[in-house]
Order: sequence, then structure tokens, then C-alpha cells
Amino acid sequence: MERATGKGPAARGAQRGEQLEVEIDSLAFGGRGVARADGLVVFVAGGLPGDRVRVEVTKAKKRFAEARTVELLSPGADRVDDLCVHGGEPCPGAPWQGLPYERQLAIKGEQVDEALRRLGGLDGFELEPSVPAAMQWRYRNKLEYSFGEGEDKEAILGFHARGRWDLVVDVDDCHLASEAGNAARNEVREWARAESVAAFDRRARSGILRNLVVREGWRSGQIQTRLVTAERRFPKPPVDLHTIVADDSGDSEGPTGVLGKEHLEEELCGLKWEISPGAFFQTNTEMAERLYAVAAEYAGLSGSERVFDLFCGIGTIGLSMASRAGEVWGLEIVPEAIADAERNAELNGIGNARFVAGNARTGVRPLVEQAGKPDVVVLDPPRAGLSQKMVRRVLECEAARIVYVSCNPTTLAPNAAQLVEAGYRLARVRPVDMFPQTPHIECVALFERDPAAVAAVASAAAAAAESPTAAAGAGEESD
Ligand SMILES: C[S@@+](CC[C@H](N)C(=O)[O-])C[C@H]1O[C@@H](n2cnc3c(N)ncnc32)[C@H](O)[C@@H]1O
Repeated sequence: MERATGKGPAARGAQRGEQLEVEIDSLAFGGRGVARADGLVVFVAGGLPGDRVRVEVTKAKKRFAEARTVELLSPGADRVDDLCVHGGEPCPGAPWQGLPYERQLAIKGEQVDEALRRLGGLDGFELEPSVPAAMQWRYRNKLEYSFGEGEDKEAILGFHARGRWDLVVDVDDCHLASEAGNAARNEVREWARAESVAAFDRRARSGILRNLVVREGWRSGQIQTRLVTAERRFPKPPVDLHTIVADDSGDSEGPTGVLGKEHLEEELCGLKWEISPGAFFQTNTEMAERLYAVAAEYAGLSGSERVFDLFCGIGTIGLSMASRAGEVWGLEIVPEAIADAERNAELNGIGNARFVAGNARTGVRPLVEQAGKPDVVVLDPPRAGLSQKMVRRVLECEAARIVYVSCNPTTLAPNAAQLVEAGYRLARVRPVDMFPQTPHIECVALFERDPAAVAAVASAAAAAAESPTAAAGAGEESD
């Protein structure tokens, strides 16, 4: 409730810990609700459009505040009942589950459009209809759970309560995971209880069990479980992999021992795949296939092109295009993933693909020296997108087409603006819904090189360099 100061929060500034009653009007990038309290913009975690909510301010700035929902006073007219609920709280992995699916899809399309137009300053591109999710629930092939302690000191295994690193809510059936994935998690929890193995307590620095990662081969039916613990002495667990993490970084990566199956097998795009524990693999198998189909359509291959697959992971995009390309070259920073890519090429009898372990920032120039300039560049970076320097390296490739697979339209937008400024045309963009019930947005964008625009940019740059005001010593970049 607002404090009785006679002034609204915008005039006096909100205070951390203060409670306000607000109505959510829209959703921001990243998924938080946007409300206005007497002119002050409030970003609300846990609020959906039309909801009237009581919130507590968690961060107070002059022009906006961040808040978390304390109570849903009246739900928005469009709200649907939550399906995935743990301990009375909505599943943290499905924050948009209260929105009808069609609305989720429409908002994601609008946010891609808004990011490109408003953040990227771009127009004239075709925003194509979004590809809807094949499955709205039980689509994740990988989930990570945390161990905690129940009221009777028994091990529980689930998700952290919202905003609480010290409280875990037990999960019996998560609707993002398959039934087999849920059963695998429950089996490990039963083992922990039967053997009285305690959860690690970060405050007391006692106990053993930290996390469990369950990964599934959707088509192979395989399940791989990886237990993350604080130390190594405890009864043999029913898992495939065991990672020891001694520090409190919150990271689940560390030295991993193999107790069962090391490589998970999967089928995708008509090919077989082996995936190492440390390698990236798209978490929605069904939609990964559709995402790659859009990338292949945009690449427009005729059989002779040289394709660069930058940020290639285990080679999924490049190898799935290899039969339509002249040659494929993949570049990826995780050596384990490159080893998988090479093994996967061999496993599928693909002879026109080569893979290089390296950083996309420094590895593109050497790749061009080794392979020659590509006709098509595929980019699939992490959420942070590309640095300006990486975009410049991509521009040096002078590829006729750039296919950009993005999991974050707000970082795609500045990268797209830089490509367009250098003479590419943003032709088409298609969102592909990989993550229903969440605000995460995936899309594929096609950039086409316009030689006349590139020449105009080059002659403008040459004229600027000759002008007496040009900065002295603006030399070559080192990598
Ligand atoms: C979104 S994933 C895409 C992987 C793959 N294209 C796929 O669909 O499975 C991004 C990949 O980029 C890799 N990566 C992250 N930073 C990198 C960098 N600086 N240089 C090269 N690869 C990088 C990650 O290891 C990860 O495999």
C-alpha cells in the first residue's frame, strides 16, 4: 500500500522495502511486468498484464523501481490457471504460464519487432509469423535441480524459491520435464533419503549434495544424470556422472567423473548425435529441428557454398546443412564440443565439414586464411550477442548472406544495426518459440550483402580518413 505522505512515489522516489499496489500494463524485455505508480515506472517480477498486485520495492532509482509481487490482489482478465506449481508457488521455470499461449506468442513477436525498430533503429525488414512450439509443456530435455533440507531434515530436490538462495521447494512433477525425467530426479532424491546423504548447507558449510542435472535424449530415450556435490565420500549414487564443486561460485561445473553413460545420444535433422556433458545442446529438441530448418531456409544453399558455422557447439547447424553445402567450417570455444562435432561428422559419414576450437573474437581471421572467405556465415552466439569487434570480423568475411540465430533480441538489435550500417540489408526475421511458458525469445534473422551499399560505406570511410580532422593513428586492430 502507498504510504500516506501526500506525494506519490514518482514525486518522492520509491524506497527499498516499500509496498505499493499497482496494475500491470505490459511486459518488458526479459519478462517482468511493467506498471506505473503515480508516474513512476515499476518493473514487477511475477506480474502479468491486467493483474492488480501488491509489490515490495527491491530496487529504487530516481526514474524507476524494481519490485517483487507479494500478493496477487486480482488477476488480469486473460489469466489462465497455473499448471506447474511446486509447494503452492508457480514453477520458477515457467513464469509466463498464467498467460494464454497465443498471447505469449504474440508478445514475443512484438518484442522482436520492437527490439529491432527501437533499439536497432531498423525498418524495412519482414517480420514473419512466429513458429509456435510443438509442445507447450514437457519440452525441456535438460533441467537442473537443487538439493535442500525438509522439515524433518530429509533431503529435498527441486528449485530455489523465488529470490531465495537459501530455500529449496521440493518438486514432484515439473511440467517442463518429461515423465521419465521427473522419475529420474525422484529416484535420486529417494536414494539420498534412503542413504541419509545430506544436502550441502552453504551457511553452515556442511553436508554433501548440491545439484542434480537431468539430461534426456528425446529420440534415443536415454537419460543422463549428473550429481554435483561438495565432496566425494558418500554411498555410490544412481547417476551417470559426478561433479565435485568445492567453492561457492554457484556454478555446477567442475571435475567430472563417469559412473555410467558419458555421452548422451540423440537424433536430430535425420542425423545421429553424441553429446558430451560439457557441450551445449539446444534444450528443446523438437523445436531445435524447426529452428535449424529456418536457418537452412534462410541460408539458401545450392550445394556449392562455403559455410561458416560460428558458435557451432557440437556442430548441429553446420552438419545439418552439410548435404546442401560445398563445405562447412565450424568454430567454437569449448574443445569438448569440437571433439563431439568431429565425432558426429564421422558418425554420420559427413566428409565436407571441418571444426576448429577457438574464440570467435580471434578465430575468424585465421579461419578465413585457412578456408577462404565464406559465402554464408551462420551465427548462433550466447545471450550476450556479439561484441562490435566480433561483428567487424564477420563483416571482413564479405559473405553474401549472414544467418543470425539469436536467443536475445535486445543483443541482436545492436549487432543488426552494425551489419546494416556496413552495407547489409536485414531482409527477414522469424521468431521460433523454443521456450513456451517463459519470456525467452529465439529468432532467426537473414542479412543480405548489398554490394552497392558496401561500396558507398567504403568510399564514405575513405573520404573521412582523408579529411584533415580524421583522428591520427587510427590503425589496424590487432586480432
Ligand atoms: C547458443 S549456443 C549455440 C550452439 C550451437 N549452434 C547449437 O545450436 O547447438 C552458443 C555456443 O557458443 C559457444 N561460445 C560462447 N562464447 C564463444 C566465443 N567467444 N567463441 C566461440 N564460441 C563461443 C558456446 O560454448 C556455445 O556452444
